[in-house]
Amino acid sequence: MSYLSYCEAFIALFQDITIYWKKVSAASAPSTESPALEKNVRTLYSIILCLVASVIKKEIVKALDSSSPVSILLCGPPGCGKSEFLKQIRNHFEQESLFIDGSYGTKAGIFQILYNKRPKYVLLDEIDKLSSPDQLALLNLMENGKLTKTTKSESYEIDLEAWVFATANNEQKILEPLLDRFEAYYLTEYTDDQFRAIAAKRLKQEGIENEELALFIANAVLRGLGRKSFRDAIRIARKSKTIQDVEETIQTLRKYDRK
Ligand SMILES: Nc1ncnc2c1ncn2[C@@H]1O[C@H](COP(=O)(O)OP(=O)(O)O)[C@@H](O)[C@H]1O
Ligand SMILES: [Mg+2]
Repeated sequence: MSYLSYCEAFIALFQDITIYWKKVSAASAPSTESPALEKNVRTLYSIILCLVASVIKKEIVKALDSSSPVSILLCGPPGCGKSEFLKQIRNHFEQESLFIDGSYGTKAGIFQILYNKRPKYVLLDEIDKLSSPDQLALLNLMENGKLTKTTKSESYEIDLEAWVFATANNEQKILEPLLDRFEAYYLTEYTDDQFRAIAAKRLKQEGIENEELALFIANAVLRGLGRKSFRDAIRIARKSKTIQDVEETIQTLRKYDRK
């Protein structure tokens, strides 16, 4: 290869990097269309950085920022950060949001809680666990923007413009017409590298300042237990001060694991 060809190849590479960098910067920049939400949206962007793929995150931020309701559903296997994601929206939009855990169905249904708080953002964790009457009422809310109740003792119909952000492990348990009202994204299990990186970060939040220990725990769960479980990593981290402590727990768990 001549000196000139080297120079040309170098310039081409430099141009490629510049184009790539411009694309990346454009893709990760929050929308500036709504200044009121911009600060919140920016914070959310940085917090959920590694939570979901950045392209999905961008759609979620656009939905949060939209002038009329858009509802989003995240489906995926346990432990891929679905609930965590809803909790982060709740933390950033404390006043405007209401977090509802679908697996704790209340006797009165979810509607009493919605009626009382009337949130803009309804954060519905495990929507697949909601009873059919609750799913139907939710469908009505998303379809008509109305919260309705008609029983012998009580009857009301109020307007409620709500953006619903929901999660599900099993979308087959969601009524078809309700599923149809969502923009749905199907998450997959974290890769090994994602798991290690997120686990180390999560363990830091749990007070494990020792990075080597945090990474050791993440690897031990991944390799020793063959699981990508943040919950296992957190439990082990809480009990362990040293690498030997971690090894001991992993050995005992392996010995008495479900056969
Ligand atoms: N990207 C992430 N960043 C920080 N913590 C995470 C992430 N993904 C999962 N976790 C942690 O892993 C655990 C399980 O996540 P969770 O959101 O409950 O999963 P899912 O709802 O998909 O079953 C929680 O303790 C959560 O804080
Ligand atoms: Mg969950």
